[in-house]
Amino acid sequence: DKGAHRHFMSKEIAEQPEVVGHTLVRFIDMTSGRVRLPAGGDFDFSGLDRLAISACGTAYYAGLVARYWFEKFARLPVDIDIASEFRYREPPLTPGGLALMISQSGETADTLATLRHCRAQGMKIGAVVNVPTSTIAREADVVFPTVAGVEVGVASTKAFTCQLAVLAALAIKAGRDRKVLSEEDEAKLVASLIELPRLMAETLRLEPQIEKLAQTFSKALDVLYLGRGTSYPIALEGALKLKEISYIHAEGYAAGELKHGPIALVDENVPVVVLAPYDALFEKTASNMQEVAARGGRIVLITDREGAGHAGDTLATIVVPDSYAFVSPLIYAIPVQLLAYHTAVFMGTDVDQPRNLAKSVTVE
Ligand code: M6R
Repeated sequence: DKGAHRHFMSKEIAEQPEVVGHTLVRFIDMTSGRVRLPAGGDFDFSGLDRLAISACGTAYYAGLVARYWFEKFARLPVDIDIASEFRYREPPLTPGGLALMISQSGETADTLATLRHCRAQGMKIGAVVNVPTSTIAREADVVFPTVAGVEVGVASTKAFTCQLAVLAALAIKAGRDRKVLSEEDEAKLVASLIELPRLMAETLRLEPQIEKLAQTFSKALDVLYLGRGTSYPIALEGALKLKEISYIHAEGYAAGELKHGPIALVDENVPVVVLAPYDALFEKTASNMQEVAARGGRIVLITDREGAGHAGDTLATIVVPDSYAFVSPLIYAIPVQLLAYHTAVFMGTDVDQPRNLAKSVTVE
């Protein structure tokens, strides 16, 4: 049931504050303000020397964000691969090590094949999965459930932010287990997670401003998305969303890669979406923005209040609520979802069931 929404995708985007809240409640003890893994899903990260993450599409981008978190907060080195490539790389795997699969459907063929490969190598399998009855959930040793509810739109939205919420909690737990985070550090990080539903709801109010960009984007043949740090995977995700449902060619790049090639594409016909919270990396991304502007590129800057104050000339500056840098991926995901959605609606494509795509990819 789409309720008052025109498409499932729009309903699922709007549900995010609520379902991220439901997911967090499963991983956080609200009275102590500490991470507490769900019953049956406890895992001790202290003995690990590496973590292997594998997933496809949007779930893979959630894994890319998680790599920054696990490495920063738990000093745990992360190997991450697109599931369809994992086995061909033949990575040396540590028996007894943890392999983490991320999947909304729990049925993605490549992710399942990777799970079985890792199991055969003696690894323990964790799964961040949305469908509790799925094959991946059944075959994993430990399930870390996302509580996104049924996701109908082929373009994943709420499952993605719920995956991020689970992975954020796991990274904090790993930081505690590995004695990298103090109790005080943990309390601060958890407090910023608890704020998320409210901040995400506030971010959704930017929809009318974002909708106004749909016409411009609908005329573009190519769109670039740039970000640094954890905003880089969100740039990749934004580009994937736009491609999937509007069929406009879009690419996400690490902002620092711009001058290593993609800047050759930039002219006044190429909108460039820049994801840049005002954090330690802002100044560097701002100088990439100037390089785009100097070539006539039209910039849509997604930033916070402080960042907006430091922005140069843009086609639009979308100001999301201030947040801790840690949780910014869950906030910045929303404007890029809305931008893709409204561009597709403006173009009249089949938003919930885009051409050539299936909700779950059960062949390799
Ligand atoms: O069900 P899964 O999370 O395993 O699916 C993985 C990808 O097929 C999926 O995220 C795909 O990229 C989506 N259509 C993205 O919107």
